Amino acid sequence: MKLYDLQGNDFLTLADYSKEELMYLIELAIDLKEKQKLGIPHRLLEGKTLGMIFEKSSTRTRVSFEAGMFQLGGHALFLSKDDLQMGRGETIADTAKVLSRYVDGMMVRTFAHSIIEELAENATVPVINGLTNEYHPCQVLADLMTIYEKKGSFEGKKLTYIGDGNNMAHSLMIGSAIMGMDCVITTPKGYEVDQSIFAKAQELAGKSGAKIEQTHDVVAACKDADVIYTDVWTSMGWEDENEKRLKDFADYQVNEALVLHAKDDYSFFHCLPAHREEEVTAAIIDGPNSVVFDEAENRLHAQKAILASIM
Ligand code: CP
Ligand code: NVA
Repeated sequence: MKLYDLQGNDFLTLADYSKEELMYLIELAIDLKEKQKLGIPHRLLEGKTLGMIFEKSSTRTRVSFEAGMFQLGGHALFLSKDDLQMGRGETIADTAKVLSRYVDGMMVRTFAHSIIEELAENATVPVINGLTNEYHPCQVLADLMTIYEKKGSFEGKKLTYIGDGNNMAHSLMIGSAIMGMDCVITTPKGYEVDQSIFAKAQELAGKSGAKIEQTHDVVAACKDADVIYTDVWTSMGWEDENEKRLKDFADYQVNEALVLHAKDDYSFFHCLPAHREEEVTAAIIDGPNSVVFDEAENRLHAQKAILASIM
C-alpha cells in the first residue's frame, strides 16, 4: 500500500477498513513516531487545515489532534458546539457543507453515531470519528499499535475487556476481529454490548479466524489474557446513572486478585480518563504491567497516520 491509497476516505469505524489497511496505518504510525523522536521533519500536510468539532469534553483527543496537525505542517481549529451556530439550531448538513469549503478535513466528537454519519454524507472532505456513543476508532487504532509494539503480533493473543458494553467495547471487538486477535467482553447483566455490533464483529472474525465472545463471568474471561482492558463505568452522556452504575459494576473492578488469572506478562490498558478505585485499583493502573501512558502517547502517532493518509 502507498500513502495516497486511502486519500479522501472517512474514518468513522474500523469496520470500514481491511486488515491490510489497518496494518498499513499502524506501520506508518510507528514510522512517524520514530521521525518525531529523531526530529526528522515530516510535513505531509503543509498548508492543510483540520476543523475539530467537540460536543463532549476531551483532553487526549483534542491535544493529540492539534499537536499532530502542527507536526505535519498543518493547522487545527478547535470548534466547540457552544461556539458554533450548530448549538443554535443550524443543521448538521449545512454545517458540513460550509466547513467543507474552508477546511481539508474534519474531526468530530459527538453523541449518536448517526450524527457523524450525516455530517460525513454532507461533507466533501474526509471526516474522522473522535468518539461517538457507539464507537471510538482512533483510540482503538492507537491501542492496536500499542499491542503490536508490546506483543509483536495479534494472532494467538487474547484481549479481555472488563466493564461497560460501550463505545470502547464495540471498537475493541471490531478491531480485534479484523486483526485476528481473540477478544472476550465481560460486562454486568444489563450492560452488554450492542448485539448488532457483536454480530458484525463475529462476521469479521469469520474471515480472520479470531474468537470474539461475550460473558458475565469475569474470572473465566481473564484466564490467560495477554491484554486486560477497562474503561470508566459511566461514559459521557450517562452521568445521571452514575450512582446505580457504581453498585452494578462493583464486581467488575480490575484489581490484584483478578489479574492473577491473566498471563504473568499481561499488559493493562485503559483509554483514560480513569477513576482509580472504581474500574481499576491504583495498584494496577500505576503498577508494572500498566502501559496506559504509552497507549495515550500513541494516540498522537496513530492519528497522524490517519490524517496523513486520508487528507
Ligand atoms: N481516551 C480519550 O479519548 O480521551 P479524551 O476523552 O481525553 O479525549
Ligand atoms: N467510554 C468513554 C470513553 C472516553 C474516552 C466515554 O464515552 O465517555
